[in-house]
Amino acid sequence: MRVAIVGGTGSFGRALAARLHAAGEEVLVGSRDAERGREVAAELGVEGGANEDIAGAADIVILAVKAEGALETARQLRGTIRSPLLCVASELLFSPDGVRPTPEPSSIAERVSGLVDVPVVAGLHSLAARNLAGDEPPDEDAFVCGDDSAAKELALEVAGKLVNGRSVDTGPLASARALEGLTAVIVNVNRRYKAHVGVRLTGLR
Ligand SMILES: NC(=O)c1ccc[n+]([C@@H]2O[C@H](COP(=O)([O-])OP(=O)(O)OC[C@H]3O[C@@H](n4cnc5c(N)ncnc54)[C@H](OP(=O)(O)O)[C@@H]3O)[C@@H](O)[C@H]2O)c1
Repeated sequence: MRVAIVGGTGSFGRALAARLHAAGEEVLVGSRDAERGREVAAELGVEGGANEDIAGAADIVILAVKAEGALETARQLRGTIRSPLLCVASELLFSPDGVRPTPEPSSIAERVSGLVDVPVVAGLHSLAARNLAGDEPPDEDAFVCGDDSAAKELALEVAGKLVNGRSVDTGPLASARALEGLTAVIVNVNRRYKAHVGVRLTGLR
């Protein structure tokens, strides 16, 4: 599978690229700056370039830019992206007493879905870049949701290459509200217990 990672120069994008490359997938790393995209890709042993150059040439596109840039980037790449888009962004509000989801009534993924002409799925929110970057895939599950079955199957396949646990279908795109909010929970737990937790469901066969 050919996976394009828009914003693949960041900590999460790099970790995704390295893990997918190690799993034998063809990975394209994108950046707003083509040269930076090529440099980071070369470090990882994959191909890279400008976001607009890589986003039209893949079986699935992962939107891995900084969350604040996700909507604008989706808008800019609307005419370029021709394959399903996997949105991994979570919007968080940081304050001394804890991290909160934003009060937005819909998830970023649902808002991205309104900006592009391809099916949008959401997922991977509970996977930390740091845990993905270890020697082995992390011993945790990866969650994906979406309304388009074929797009969701592709994203589940990608998710399955990233973890030692399961890639889990968590339902329609509306579940992205919960998955994005789960990031705040994880960050709060990590702060409270000085940990780097992942999530694994019990009771799944
Ligand atoms: N970090 C994690 O552990 C983690 C876990 C799960 C999900 N996520 C999600 O993954 C995404 C990336 O996280 P990250 O920690 O890797 O973020 P990051 O390092 O802050 O940013 C990733 C990349 O986004 C690009 N970027 C920055 N500002 C931008 C803007 N205004 N518009 C377009 N592109 C911009 C930059 O690439 P160029 O300058 O090269 O264009 C940067 O390298 C976020 O949406 C986050 O919610 C992160």
